[in-house]
Amino acid sequence: MNRNDTPPKPDKAPATFHVKSFGCQMNVYDGERMAEMLGERGMTPAAEGTDADLVILNTCHIREKAVDKVYSDIGRLRREDGTRPMIAVAGCVAQAEGREISRRARSVDIVVGPQAYHRLPDLIDKAGRGEEAVDTDMPLASKFGALPARTKQARPTAFLTIMEGCDKFCTYCVVPYTRGAEISRSWDAILDEAKALVEGGVREITLLGQNVNAWTGEDGKGRMQGMDGLVRELAKVNDLKRIRYTTSHPNDMSDGLIAAHGEVEKLMPFLHLPVQSGNDRILKAMNRSHSADSYLRIIERVREARPDIALSGDFIVGFPGETDAEFEDTLKIVEQVRYAQCYSFKYSPRPGTPAADMDGQIPAEVMDERLARLQALINQHQVAFNTAAIGRRTDILLERKGRHPGQLIGKTPWLQSVHVTAPDLAIGDMVEVDIVSAGPNSLAGEPSRRKAA
Ligand code: 5AD
Ligand code: SF4
Repeated sequence: MNRNDTPPKPDKAPATFHVKSFGCQMNVYDGERMAEMLGERGMTPAAEGTDADLVILNTCHIREKAVDKVYSDIGRLRREDGTRPMIAVAGCVAQAEGREISRRARSVDIVVGPQAYHRLPDLIDKAGRGEEAVDTDMPLASKFGALPARTKQARPTAFLTIMEGCDKFCTYCVVPYTRGAEISRSWDAILDEAKALVEGGVREITLLGQNVNAWTGEDGKGRMQGMDGLVRELAKVNDLKRIRYTTSHPNDMSDGLIAAHGEVEKLMPFLHLPVQSGNDRILKAMNRSHSADSYLRIIERVREARPDIALSGDFIVGFPGETDAEFEDTLKIVEQVRYAQCYSFKYSPRPGTPAADMDGQIPAEVMDERLARLQALINQHQVAFNTAAIGRRTDILLERKGRHPGQLIGKTPWLQSVHVTAPDLAIGDMVEVDIVSAGPNSLAGEPSRRKAA
């Protein structure tokens, strides 16, 4: 058979599946919910993509090459015997490209957007009958109501999407177009899901949203609440030990949420609060609607409420028109905040976003150089932050096995990974350790002789 031929359509209903999620934590969450839904339908997971009868590529569109990557992944799903699995493209590339995907890659059977994946079972049936199975609707009724309840989780940590979408329209960002407008899930739906996760063994929940701290809703008594109210309520769930949230926008950092960091013990001392740039002209061109100073004032107040809080951020270098001096302001704000960790990216023009058409697109070499300088500074701070943990006694929640026998990996309250060798301990244990050494990306600890409460 010619390599360029499209492998024939699978001719039986899929019994096994494999979900491959790219990009953000919300995609990981969506991938898990898809898997649970297919499990409910009697399908079983397969470890390898090519072994599965159905492969779902849960794609990300935030930066360049995502689309090309999807097409090359599709090509790689061809099996040695010339057959292929049923292929679904889900996530933000599916939303942005729609049926263009199945036109360009004939072996794609299903295209399903991030707000429509609760309809996957129907789409699988349609594809099985050889019908077009494309669904990029953003229905008003939430997909969450149509998904099965959460099942027992393999790990003691879980994500829980509490709001989706974004109304901020930063000029570089594709999210408001692929994930739609901001929608908060209801108080009850969130609490029910959290309780189901905890009953299934989860001890730490990370609340998710593109602008998670913009969450609003009515509580059980009909009072309007913000995310701080929700966090306080979740903290009452007995066996839930830790609460985290990501990603936040500086403008939605309410007084109540800042105060909660000082008052709610289960709310972990970690805040991912992206600023993107340290220069006010660039921030304005990005439509961020905050300044470098107003951001720094928020950081100051958060640190007053919770002095040991670890901060994290996102940065974009080489936004259109960014001068050397403007980039220096980004280094300056990093120096002022001293983040525990950061994500930094080269600006990537996204089709359909305002910044993609702006003058002054920055050459690749300039972006490379700026990114290298920024990352060197961020790494320096990250190493200093980790080194400062040596000698500290802290609780870690054991999440997974390490590479060596008897080794387990857990996280500190400040989201640092800690390796411990402790054959008598198990995943899911909260254990007190003494930190004995630190690297750039993880720490090593020894169980302290005094048992954690
Ligand atoms: N180019 C580069 N980085 C981007 N991000 C979002 N859109 C782009 C883009 N077009 C980054 C931002 C955001 C993170 C999730 O991805 O820093 O906070
Ligand atoms: Fe994108 Fe800005 Fe919304 Fe974040 S706040 S998802 S960067 S538009």
